[in-house]
Amino acid sequence: RRVGILISGRGSNMAALVEASRASDSPYEVVIVASDNPDAPGLRWAQEAGIMTFAIAAKGMPKQQYEAAIETALLGREVEAIALAGYMRLLSDDFVARWRGRIVNIHPSLLPNYKGLDTHARAIAAGDAIAGASVHLVTEELDGGSVLGRAEVAIEPDDTPDTLAARVLAAEHELYPLVLAQWLSH
Ligand code: GRF
Repeated sequence: RRVGILISGRGSNMAALVEASRASDSPYEVVIVASDNPDAPGLRWAQEAGIMTFAIAAKGMPKQQYEAAIETALLGREVEAIALAGYMRLLSDDFVARWRGRIVNIHPSLLPNYKGLDTHARAIAAGDAIAGASVHLVTEELDGGSVLGRAEVAIEPDDTPDTLAARVLAAEHELYPLVLAQWLSH
């Protein structure tokens, strides 16, 4: 399967997906990494890994316009499925409808808990013992589509949002490639 990855920043999940895709039995290949932010550090990593990249400075631009540019880039690479990896903008309903059932995202909480931002601070404030990450299908509802896989990590008594985020991120890097591969083999 030909996968396009959308990022806005660091791109560590994107890198984990690319690295896993290089296994001989991987059911997917990453054919493009696209970003709404030309300064996303992950773009450089992708270029150095030999992957085609596309970036548009979406800030201040109408959603329709930058999304159309990103979509054109994806279609130009004959992308069949889209993996969001730290893509920090909501996709429009029209975009989601055109790609229905073909977009996945990773979210740093055990969905359906803590949709949206600041998941780790909210889990700590709630006194939760367990945090984690979820890979889910993307629908019009923020972080709302069916969950395809989850990974749990313990919350330690002295955790800050940053220390917890680091532990969850390591779990994300294991979870996302596994779930994407499983999903795309069906
Ligand atoms: C991850 O925590 C992911 O779950 C969330 O945004 C973060 C992206 O990190 N959606 P990275 O850009 O993949 O390093």
